[in-house]
Amino acid sequence: MSKQFDVIVIGGGPGGYIAAIRAAQLGFNTACIDEWKNGKGGPAPGGTCTNVGCIPSKALLQSSEHFEHANKHFAEHGITASDVKMDVAKMLARKDGVVKQNNDGILYLFKKNKVSFFHGRGSFAKAAEGGYEIKVAGAAEETLVGKHIIVATGSNARQLPGVPFDEETVLSNDGALRVGAVPKKLALIGSGVIGLEMGSVWRRLGADVTILEGLPTFLGAVDEQIAKEAKKAFDKQGLKVELGVKVGEVAKTQAGVTIDYTDAKGEAKKLEADKLIVSIGRVPNTIGLNAEAVGLKLDDRGAIIVDDECKTSLPNVWAVGDVVRGPMLAHKAEEEGVAVAERIAGQHGHVNFNTIPWVIYTSPEIAWVGRTEQQLKADGVKYKAGTFPFLANGRARALGDTTGMVKFLADATTDEILGVHIVGPMASELISEAVVAMEFKASAEDIARICHAHPSLSEATKEAALAVDKRTLNF
Ligand code: FAD
Ligand code: NAI
Repeated sequence: MSKQFDVIVIGGGPGGYIAAIRAAQLGFNTACIDEWKNGKGGPAPGGTCTNVGCIPSKALLQSSEHFEHANKHFAEHGITASDVKMDVAKMLARKDGVVKQNNDGILYLFKKNKVSFFHGRGSFAKAAEGGYEIKVAGAAEETLVGKHIIVATGSNARQLPGVPFDEETVLSNDGALRVGAVPKKLALIGSGVIGLEMGSVWRRLGADVTILEGLPTFLGAVDEQIAKEAKKAFDKQGLKVELGVKVGEVAKTQAGVTIDYTDAKGEAKKLEADKLIVSIGRVPNTIGLNAEAVGLKLDDRGAIIVDDECKTSLPNVWAVGDVVRGPMLAHKAEEEGVAVAERIAGQHGHVNFNTIPWVIYTSPEIAWVGRTEQQLKADGVKYKAGTFPFLANGRARALGDTTGMVKFLADATTDEILGVHIVGPMASELISEAVVAMEFKASAEDIARICHAHPSLSEATKEAALAVDKRTLNF
């Protein structure tokens, strides 16, 4: 006998588990199927984000930042820390502990919200009376029938053609998060978000890091002024980024790996390294979903085709997160998951793609929301810009971290905030104020007139808003 559900979610990453919780909160009899296994073969819900993405990368970024501070910055505070060592095994064990807390937290949330969890691979069997028949292949085989299906099967790392990941020498994000000893020389291909975050981790721990980037521009999607400021900081740290390269043969050797490439001037070069992290983007994952059994339509990138409301080509089948169009971000996946559950309940779930924040957790952090200066120019929008450097912010000076700035872009006529771009300390937290402001269609003057605590980094946000009207107080 098959088990009947109102909603079945396939995939338990941030898109899927949040959709399942919201659906259950709305009174639906809900199941979530996820196949991720922990080291012991048990369930590890949370998807890429929890297991090999957001959470473990931030754990390693924190550990490596502490190490760098102890080695390079404690002395400024009068603290002598001699013979500082990094126990990589302990750092990785701590990271695994953080991941497990999150896995366990999700299992707890499923229980609390009465979501039925199935550990295994979910696949479409057929359209059935009252919905769709879904097979679960795990420790036990199950057949479920759901009136509504939400597909949230995420994404996988993109391989370089002909260079498969072995997770020993050629690493995806998975292997990059469990390198057992600091490599002497680390190469990365792709200076996007993963390249910069993982490159920073291993550089701080002592690796000689080189990132090879195909595009001639550094962080092309980021506001140009902010990207330039970030690049200056990374150069100073010794994080080497070569732009405009063309990667040729990648060969594994006894010592590690060699990468043949042509540099921006067209010169042939060879990079030797102990390990190579390939971080050239991710591809939507529908492996094993058996989408063809029910005729679920994919685009030519392999993403499930959805409309603005996450409706697929099939009635009552929805898809959210990395497996559909849009930015591959955990919070975007979560917002879509909530919106879909609410739409199933007849409510008006909504996701505002114009106010999705981006954060790169390097040091300095880079965060932004809305349009960049180059996008506004391209769109022919008349705008005013205001910037404020952390160098002139009291809290940043006290922290000893004055790199970077906050930048506001506002409509020249209405003063509505069109974009906020930050490079500097705690940019990841500061950006929230800008997101709220943009969601409420605030003007730069609105932020400039709000009382911000002193001394705080957020005063730089207020000052940048004041700068739009050319009336900063502290600069
Ligand atoms: P996923 O998290 O990929 O989850 C999909 C789940 O579905 C997985 O558990 C998978 O095992 C399961 N699954 C797939 N197929 C089936 C099936 N047929 N049956 C059962 N289960 C199945 N984003 C941020 O916003 N902030 C960050 O700081 C950040 N850092 C990142 C760092 C790294 C190194 C990486 C790789 C990614 C990072 N991301 C970050 C991106 C973020 O991880 C993804 O955007 C997010 O996980 C997408 O969520 P999702 O639910 O769509 O898919
Ligand atoms: P990315 O899209 O951020 O960067 C990939 C980079 O590789 C680009 O700069 C691209 O030009 C370059 N590239 C592509 N092919 C190349 C080639 N053949 N040779 C040289 N360079 C090449 O992708 P990344 O870093 O793999 O991350 C995947 C996604 O995961 C991100 O886009 C983001 O959505 C998510 N993520 C988010 C994080 C966050 O929010 N802090 C952290 C890490 C990942």
